[in-house]
Amino acid sequence: MSLLSPEDLPNVRFIDHAPEPADLMADARAGLSERPLELSSKFFYDAVGSELFDAITRLPEYYLTRTEAVIFDARMPEIRAALGPNIQLIEFGAGLGGKTRKLVAALDAPSSVVLIEISTDALRLGATQLAAVHSELEIIAVCADYSQPVELPEPTVAPTRRAVFFPGSTIGNFELASARDFLAGAAALVGAGGQLLIGYDLVKDVDVVEAAYNDAAGVTAEFNINLLRRLQAAGAELDVSAFSHHAPFVTEHSRIEMHLVAKRDTRIQVGDLAVDVSAGERITTEHSHKYTLDGFRALAGAAGWAHQQTWTDAGEQFALSLFAVAE
Ligand code: AVJ
Repeated sequence: MSLLSPEDLPNVRFIDHAPEPADLMADARAGLSERPLELSSKFFYDAVGSELFDAITRLPEYYLTRTEAVIFDARMPEIRAALGPNIQLIEFGAGLGGKTRKLVAALDAPSSVVLIEISTDALRLGATQLAAVHSELEIIAVCADYSQPVELPEPTVAPTRRAVFFPGSTIGNFELASARDFLAGAAALVGAGGQLLIGYDLVKDVDVVEAAYNDAAGVTAEFNINLLRRLQAAGAELDVSAFSHHAPFVTEHSRIEMHLVAKRDTRIQVGDLAVDVSAGERITTEHSHKYTLDGFRALAGAAGWAHQQTWTDAGEQFALSLFAVAE
């Protein structure tokens, strides 16, 4: 437990639109009413799930976080210069806030920071730690599902411009059409002169990608299966032990697909909906798209973003790009 909470800190505003267990149940009912069966990846991130994801980022096989950090460390002075002074930074999916703290420390006198995160526990920790280091910085912490439109409060100090920060290849969880819509929404949010700093995973050797989502220690499997535990805690009746983790790379869609595969015939009961899952049947829990540099630029372009700069690591495993709202 942290000793401080956001309420103790005068420079933090905490806005709570956290999804309720009822939202999880409604979403699960919708996803389990049709074939193929689906559960939404946004529900991975309860307190346990956020900790499990944090453990994933430190796995030897999970190259994404580490590689993105290498790019950041090498390019921070360029990033600072390109974003400029007095900006409002808006981060989607801030998690425990580690990347936020690093970027904010490097920025040229940011005017305010908005953290948007679906996990209350992660957001509270992240906002508190950021506020502790930057006691003069206005921090707006919004607990919300950002795949839905979010309304942000006006900051006290008007920024020179706004920049969206969306690291970690979380964009890869959206289907391509939804990714475009989300990025278009981000352009509308920051307005003319606004920027987007976004991290995304690149297409590479299939074995390397599959290892990252099928780690030897089984942490990703735990993370995937935790979704079922969470659903159970929200009131669903199901047998967690009847499912196993499976995460193949599907070349046709250029993405990792995370599945929960039924080991035997089993039933999931969500409210009055009973779903009979047969042995071998899969529930899709997450897609994680891998892009080419050109492909990603086209995706962002279709959403109204003009490319400014792209940085990659020496192995071209991961990319970080800066875009500006197209005139
Ligand atoms: C945080 C969404 C970027 O897709 O790689 C990690 C989540 N899932 N291992 C990803 C995740 C399985 C991660 N993102």
